[in-house]
Amino acid sequence: MIVPVAVATLALWCMCLGARSDNLEKTIKSYEKLISEHREAAKHWKVPTDNQEFKPSDASQEPTDFGTFDMIVVGSGSAGSVLASRLSEVEDWRILVIEAGNFPNEFTAITRMGYDVILSDYNWGYYSVPQNTSCQGFKGSVCPHPRGKGVGGTSLLNALIYVRGNRHDYKRWCEMGNPGWCYEDVLPYFLNSEDYYHNYPEAPVDPEYHSSGEQFKIQRGYHEKD
Ligand SMILES: *[C@@H]1O[C@H](CO)[C@@H](O)[C@H](O)[C@H]1NC(C)=O
Repeated sequence: MIVPVAVATLALWCMCLGARSDNLEKTIKSYEKLISEHREAAKHWKVPTDNQEFKPSDASQEPTDFGTFDMIVVGSGSAGSVLASRLSEVEDWRILVIEAGNFPNEFTAITRMGYDVILSDYNWGYYSVPQNTSCQGFKGSVCPHPRGKGVGGTSLLNALIYVRGNRHDYKRWCEMGNPGWCYEDVLPYFLNSEDYYHNYPEAPVDPEYHSSGEQFKIQRGYHEKD
């Protein structure tokens, strides 16, 4: 009696595996389609050159009243999102986050597709003015300056790379007469927002510059072991 049961179980298991690999196949196919469609669209994307297209189509339209807020955060990038979330911890405060463009989609969620997301309407499409000492490899010494346009801001298109400003830039801004912008002033806020996950225990980490437990998830990028 044991044998048929075992066979039945095995048959069921095989059917199950069959269904799983069918599903996996479907998932892979749908991702292939998603990626190739977006890559194709990226080839034809035109950099916006006329800001008229960002104006409301009907200028006479009455603005919508969304109510009154205690704080308005402009931009829902990594910084704005964490800031808004932290501010909203004060229960009585109403926080408004303003962002342009669309919500993220399945494609923007694939972090390594950042470059193709740049070539889409998720990018404002800014360029630098002609530079004298940098961007020399670009036509007219003009660098592209991709900025995310959508919920998530530039985190939509930067392949999840996290780079803090250079301490000398903060120093310079501070010396130009902006109290509170020296590196020593801003560092505590970087630390106060960070959740550093030490995913490579063998890699050195400087505790002076990292902290854990807050909302901004940071970890070392995955890399091939040497
Ligand atoms: C490049 O140099 C010229 C001539 O000195 C100057 O007028 C211009 O402002 C400089 N451009 C930048 C982006 O610094």
